[in-house]
This record gives sequence, C-alpha cells and structure tokens, in this order.
Amino acid sequence: MPSLQGKIGLVTGAGSGIGREVALLMARDGANVVVADVADDHGIETVKMIQRTGGGAAFVHADVSDPAQVEAMVKFAVDTYGGLHLAVNNAGIGGPAALMGDYPVDGWDKVIGINLTGVFLCLRAELSVIAAGGGGSIVNISSILGFVGFGQSCAYVAAKHGVIGLTQNAALEYADKNVRVNSIHPGFIDTPLVAAGGIEKGGDLWDFIASKHAMNRWGTAAEVATPVVWLLSDEASFVTGSQYVVDGGYLAQ
Ligand SMILES: NC(=O)c1ccc[n+]([C@@H]2O[C@H](COP(=O)([O-])OP(=O)(O)OC[C@H]3O[C@@H](n4cnc5c(N)ncnc54)[C@H](O)[C@@H]3O)[C@@H](O)[C@H]2O)c1
Repeated sequence: MPSLQGKIGLVTGAGSGIGREVALLMARDGANVVVADVADDHGIETVKMIQRTGGGAAFVHADVSDPAQVEAMVKFAVDTYGGLHLAVNNAGIGGPAALMGDYPVDGWDKVIGINLTGVFLCLRAELSVIAAGGGGSIVNISSILGFVGFGQSCAYVAAKHGVIGLTQNAALEYADKNVRVNSIHPGFIDTPLVAAGGIEKGGDLWDFIASKHAMNRWGTAAEVATPVVWLLSDEASFVTGSQYVVDGGYLAQ
C-alpha cells in the first residue's frame, strides 16, 4: 500500500467519478486533499465522505478553464495546508457528439478550454509551487482517446492527445526540480460523465463499447484511482513523463 502520509494533494473535478475515487484513496493513504470542482454540492459531498472516514479534506470552487480560479485554487491549498506536493488534473467533459464537418465551434472551444487548456493552466499554477516545496508528483488524466480516434468526438480526442504532450514537456522541464509528471489513460469507465453523454447503462451501445475491451466490460473509477495513487507515491520514484494505460485491453486489440 503506497503511503501519502504527510502529503498535501489537490484533485480537480473531485466531486464525481474518477476524481472522487482518487481523492478518497489519497485521503485513505494519509494525504490532506483539496477537492476542487465547479459543482459545489458534489465537491462538498466528497469532502464529507473523506471526513467521515477520519481523513483531511477541504473544498474549493474552481473552474479549470479560468486562469484566475486556477491560481486561487493552488493558493487555497497553500493557505489551508501550508504547501502542495501532489496534484491530479482530472476535471473533464465529454462535449458534443458530431462528425468533424458538423462539429460546433463553440463546443470545440469548450472541450479544449476544459480538457486541454485546463490541464495547462493547472500545471502552470502547480509546478512552481510543488517545486518550491521540495518536489512531488502530478498525474494528468488523459484517456485511451489520447492514443486513438473515436467517432464524433474530435475535440475530446484532440484534447486528450494534447495532454500527453503537456505531460511530457512538464516532466522534462521539472525533472531536475524533483517534480514527476505522468498521465493515466483510462478505457471506458462507468461514471456520470458517460451517462451525461447519453450512453444508457446495459443498452446496446453500452454492450458494444464493453466488447471493445479485451475484458468485455467497463472499468470502475476505483480501478483507475489505484494506479493514480501509485504514481503519486514515492513507490513510483523513477517514473516520469510516462503514459499508463488502464483500459481492460481496449488498445491491445
Ligand atoms: N468515464 C470515462 O469513461 C473516462 C475515460 C477516460 C478518461 N476519462 C477522463 O476522466 C476524467 C474524469 O471523468 P469522469 O468520468 O470521472 O467524469 P465525471 O463527469 O464523473 O466527473 C468530472 C468532474 O469534473 C467536474 N468538472 C467539469 N468541468 C469542470 C471545470 N471546468 N472545472 C472543474 N471541474 C469541472 C464535474 O463537475 C465533475 O465533478 C475526465 O478528464 C475524463 O475525460 C473518463
């Protein structure tokens, strides 16, 4: 079991799905966790879940596509807990479903603003603070769609490919400052994001997507949280600039 004892961590989009599971697991392993989200009720619920198990957590409202809110989010972590060692840049949306020729430009801007520019803004605010505190570890949540295409999802696919580049550049630039930066690439995971995209659980499309994974099922948020927390921990001390696929064999076939 990796230990995050004494560490201060931050998770964006921690009010739901993968981000919530990551925040819960970080707290269970000893970190104080800043829970950031645009959905205040959901973020506050994550904090309560952590506190009920005796962990330390605090909520901050932060839209990752807004530079001022991202700066304020990192400042909140430092003001609340005295520093920052760990960050998981997880917040994301699915966006419109349309062929590229019909893809709405405002939908493109929104998806890129949250899923790609949001990761850049978070890294920009986190890296120097983590470095100044002696170092730490950052995990960016990309997707299997950071490696391959998926119909009617050009903005999402482009953003998730871009997260690999941001991760590698941050890793190169901050390795000598003791900051490790890696990305996680989940397959299809059963979270509210998927329901919001109109995929009905147990329906034909659900089963079709399941069949694209060698394990013939969807993953759970907890199955993604475990490797994220390992990358955050000192057990991954020689791992930086890497892409970790957690996809039940989607990319293997
Ligand atoms: N669910 C999947 O199948 C899957 C697969 C691969 C990658 N991912 C990625 O995992 C991450 C988490 O997805 P999830 O499935 O847990 O989704 P989710 O919808 O359950 O959770 C996303 C959270 O992000 C928050 N959020 C949305 N926009 C935000 C913004 N601008 N600023 C701050 N917070 C914001 C939402 O309020 C929500 O709490 C996303 O980056 C997503 O692209 C998900």
